[in-house]
Amino acid sequence: MACQVQLILAIFAALLAALPFLSLNSFPIRRLLYPTCRCFPGEPCWPSDESWDAFNKTLGGKLIKTVPIGAVCHTNQSFVPYDAAACAELQAHWNEADTHVSSPSSITAPFFADQSCDPFAPPSSPCSIGTYVQYTVRAAGASDYRATIEFAKSNNIRLTIRNSAHDYFGKVTGAGAIAIWTHHLKDINVFDYASKHYTGKAAKVGAGVSMSEISQALKQQGLLAVIGNAPTVGVAGGYTQGAGHGMIASRHGLAADQVLEWEVVTAGGELLTASPSKNQDLYWALSGGGGGTYGIVLSMTVKAHPDEPTATAFLQFNSEGISTDLFYETIATYLHNTLAITDAGVGSIFQLSSAYFAVVPILGLGKTKEKIDELVQPTIDALTSKNIPFSYESTQYNSFHDAYAATTVETPVAFGQLGGRLPPRSDIEFSTTSFTGALRTIAEKGGLISGLSFNVSRMPDVPNSVLPGWRRSTISLVTGLIWNNTDWNANLEAQRIISEEFIPEIDRVSQQAPSSYMNEAAAREPNWKSVFFGDNYPELLRIKKKYDPSGLFWARTAVGSDTWVEGSDKRLCRT
Ligand SMILES: Cc1cc2nc3c(=O)[nH]c(=O)nc-3n(C[C@H](O)[C@H](O)[C@H](O)COP(=O)(O)OP(=O)(O)OC[C@H]3O[C@@H](n4cnc5c(N)ncnc54)[C@H](O)[C@@H]3O)c2cc1C
Ligand SMILES: *[C@@H]1O[C@H](CO)[C@@H](O)[C@H](O)[C@H]1NC(C)=O
Ligand SMILES: *[C@@H]1O[C@H](CO)[C@@H](O)[C@H](O)[C@H]1NC(C)=O
Ligand SMILES: *[C@@H]1O[C@H](CO)[C@@H](O)[C@H](O)[C@H]1NC(C)=O
Ligand SMILES: *[C@@H]1O[C@H](CO)[C@@H](O)[C@H](O)[C@H]1NC(C)=O
Repeated sequence: MACQVQLILAIFAALLAALPFLSLNSFPIRRLLYPTCRCFPGEPCWPSDESWDAFNKTLGGKLIKTVPIGAVCHTNQSFVPYDAAACAELQAHWNEADTHVSSPSSITAPFFADQSCDPFAPPSSPCSIGTYVQYTVRAAGASDYRATIEFAKSNNIRLTIRNSAHDYFGKVTGAGAIAIWTHHLKDINVFDYASKHYTGKAAKVGAGVSMSEISQALKQQGLLAVIGNAPTVGVAGGYTQGAGHGMIASRHGLAADQVLEWEVVTAGGELLTASPSKNQDLYWALSGGGGGTYGIVLSMTVKAHPDEPTATAFLQFNSEGISTDLFYETIATYLHNTLAITDAGVGSIFQLSSAYFAVVPILGLGKTKEKIDELVQPTIDALTSKNIPFSYESTQYNSFHDAYAATTVETPVAFGQLGGRLPPRSDIEFSTTSFTGALRTIAEKGGLISGLSFNVSRMPDVPNSVLPGWRRSTISLVTGLIWNNTDWNANLEAQRIISEEFIPEIDRVSQQAPSSYMNEAAAREPNWKSVFFGDNYPELLRIKKKYDPSGLFWARTAVGSDTWVEGSDKRLCRT
């Protein structure tokens, strides 16, 4: 009976869709076909305990009823006993990735936790699940993906895909949601791959493999993969699906440029292989078009490159004791210098505040220490001739992995809010002074700035949906303000300053329409469609609708996400 009604509605919709003035996507038709809002806990539509139990049985016991990790810090809650010592311990480790990566529901972007069970709030303050997910499925394979998709669809429950939970946009959380947790899919297989487009070593990794885990596996075989500077970030989730940069991107391209195949379960429950020769549109979309949008990735196969001797260098100078003009002039010299550094296939990352400028580090895969020294010489000359005290140290390693281990520190999480841009090369090459002036304005307002330099202009052998702005840019610029654990209003103000003051400074001096790395940007970017996806947006949207017509996968600022909106209770409803 229900089936028939659906069929009639579908025919009705199809007929209407044929009319020029009413499309399937016009809002009365969507309302007819699909419920307006996702079902919410406490509503009659919410599954009974028996249904959850039955679902858990289908999953072989992999269903977790979540408990906010901050609950130990609260007296008025029924999750766990209040525990002052455990709370102090949690607070002490709050900024460490593992605290959240290992949890089935915690997130690293505190703004999107919405103070639901805030470990830094007074013990008597409320603690609820709020915007944390209600249930998490600790997935072990495609059948768990399918069962979860089926359960979420038939009960109209919001679904999120959760991997390392590093996302800055709260994409892995959601009020009234169930999460499919890919973190424990840890298979790694290194093998010889051959296709029309690539013959050579490759690594097939499960969706939960982290950067350090793929590296560890490849190291033993004298190989490496393109990874970023964060050992616990997942390699096959939002990182590669969103583009993925790192110190060796200048040499081998972005993470998305490395992908040979995806295994993915679609909203329809189908397990597909997406490659340059199979389901090409899905391959194109997954390779750069954003995580949590087109399907649930089960595995990814990427190119593995030979390990090589690697050289690194660190450079630092401070603003104290020199004139402010001189401090920024010298930064401008370095920024100009990065063009030669990146064109030579070398990566570098700097940090800047009004107090100091530090390059942490420069990393040249397949380069000697002497070559790195030579590349940085223009900056060293400027520092020396202007009598600016500085420290510089370069080191030679036999292996990329040793260089990475020696120079990569785990970045603190839940530590700040940020905005970002991918300025075109011309901004640095031809307007270095005004570009540096923008950075100066931001730094003088208290902003922290970081810039990862690269040259990823060379297009991959097979086209992908990486935002075109990456190919024109030489720097992923991030600017942020530190998160305040006890002052929510200060954090709201920080968001405003980043979006309304910092980012516009960079745009003001830019020669081109803005682009941003979708993973390292302001979540309230007003023009996110063009800024995060550029000209690829319409085609990505078409592919999204093809593989996920009902909008099962939703993530903030993901392609097609504007057909939903979070209400005041943070529940997801159709617009
Ligand atoms: C401390 C820190 C350091 C970082 N360093 C770098 C860096 O060096 N280089 C860089 O490029 N980026 C870096 N990032 C950004 C990082 O790439 C993004 O946060 C990215 O989204 C993380 O992906 P994840 O899958 O590990 O995390 P998650 O937060 O779990 O997921 C991110 C998004 O991907 C989706 N997703 C996850 N798994 C799947 C799957 N199997 N199928 C479909 N969708 C999925 C999620 O739904 C979500 O929308 C860093 C972030 C942090 C917090
Ligand atoms: C699911 O089953 C497992 C194993 O029986 C159990 O440990 C777990 O608590 C169950 N989950 C829920 C939400 O009941
Ligand atoms: C405890 O929380 C409930 C709701 O979560 C609230 O109604 C009640 O007032 C709280 N009690 C105290 C003592 O704060
Ligand atoms: C990247 O390097 C190549 C030369 O190797 C150069 O032609 C190109 O302009 C560079 N791209 C950017 C964006 O800097
Ligand atoms: C957070 O805000 C409080 C109250 O406004 C302030 O006293 C404190 O210094 C701030 N902390 C940080 C780290 O900025």
